Amino acid sequence: MSEVRVAVVGVGPRGLNHLEAMQNLPTAEVVGYCDPSSDALARAAAMAPQAEAFSGIEELMTALPSGERLDAVVTSGPQELNAPMALPFVEAGVATLMEKPPGIYLHETQELVAAQQRGGAPLMVAFNRRFHPLLETALAAVRERGPVVQVVAEFHKSLAQLEQAGRYTPAVRERAFVESPIHAVDWALYAAGDRGLQRLHAASGRAEGRLIDSHAALAVAESGTIIQLTAAYTTGGRLERYEIHGLGISAYLEGVRAGHFVINGETSPIEAPDDDSTGLQAAHFIDLVVRGGTVETPACGTAGAIRAMEVVEAVVAAADG
Ligand SMILES: NC(=O)c1ccc[n+]([C@@H]2O[C@H](COP(=O)([O-])OP(=O)(O)OC[C@H]3O[C@@H](n4cnc5c(N)ncnc54)[C@H](O)[C@@H]3O)[C@@H](O)[C@H]2O)c1
Repeated sequence: MSEVRVAVVGVGPRGLNHLEAMQNLPTAEVVGYCDPSSDALARAAAMAPQAEAFSGIEELMTALPSGERLDAVVTSGPQELNAPMALPFVEAGVATLMEKPPGIYLHETQELVAAQQRGGAPLMVAFNRRFHPLLETALAAVRERGPVVQVVAEFHKSLAQLEQAGRYTPAVRERAFVESPIHAVDWALYAAGDRGLQRLHAASGRAEGRLIDSHAALAVAESGTIIQLTAAYTTGGRLERYEIHGLGISAYLEGVRAGHFVINGETSPIEAPDDDSTGLQAAHFIDLVVRGGTVETPACGTAGAIRAMEVVEAVVAAADG
């Protein structure tokens, strides 16, 4: 396949990022997009005037091909709809890049995996930290000197602020750890070798009395890497942070914008290209569709999605004993 015919499903702010990334790829042709919001459709039309607009998934799936094929989709809906929105495409054997989280509950991810096995096309989860040049540069420098000994991954937000802004449905609020902290979970597992865990100890609680708002986990990966995860939703705002410790080297990353190494006691900034992880992720996805390949590291496929969701389930379950 030389050019991938792709559609973007859900063109809110994040879907527009995906639309732009696909528009920039010479090997992708954006043929359609869909969203029930007419405002969202208007914004997408301005960005991709050549593509057809649809108000729903069914319309897109039935009307778009009109004898022509749909090779791939990027799905980017509200968090609680990510799994149901991706499912019909995965089932139909359309290569799918789905936004995180890959379900709010593990059973939704398991349903997607079963559908992927029936449909046969690649399913990739858009954990874009795996493509982030700063994180990649830091990880590569640690790996150059030996094993990744320890990874610390943190993602903090304010549940009160999110509630006030009306950001989430009750299902997502009850499982805040599955929304942004799943980036930290996935990236820590990826940095630790992208395989399973030997053991996991989870702790979480309802510090403010109602919802689960404080989360932590300590795990040992199959590779031997020790993983520490923490996500406080009792804070004044958003903070994402990573540490990677190796032999004679540590990398400290504040957010995904800046960081520094400490190498044998000497501190130096982490210099990385300014490339956009969403664009790199889109290029990786389209390339694998062109090659007819399967989802492999650095991308997150079905096995990685299940691993991340198993950690989420364990941490959420820990709140109630
Ligand atoms: N990887 C990242 O760094 C990153 C960053 C931001 C958001 N996200 C994820 O991307 C997703 C989208 O984020 P957002 O901020 O754009 O969310 P949003 O809720 O603002 O937008 C979602 C869009 O999906 C549309 N939609 C709802 N139901 C639909 C359906 N059945 N079919 C098609 N479209 C439908 C909505 O009308 C809306 O335009 C979320 O799941 C979020 O977790 C990831």
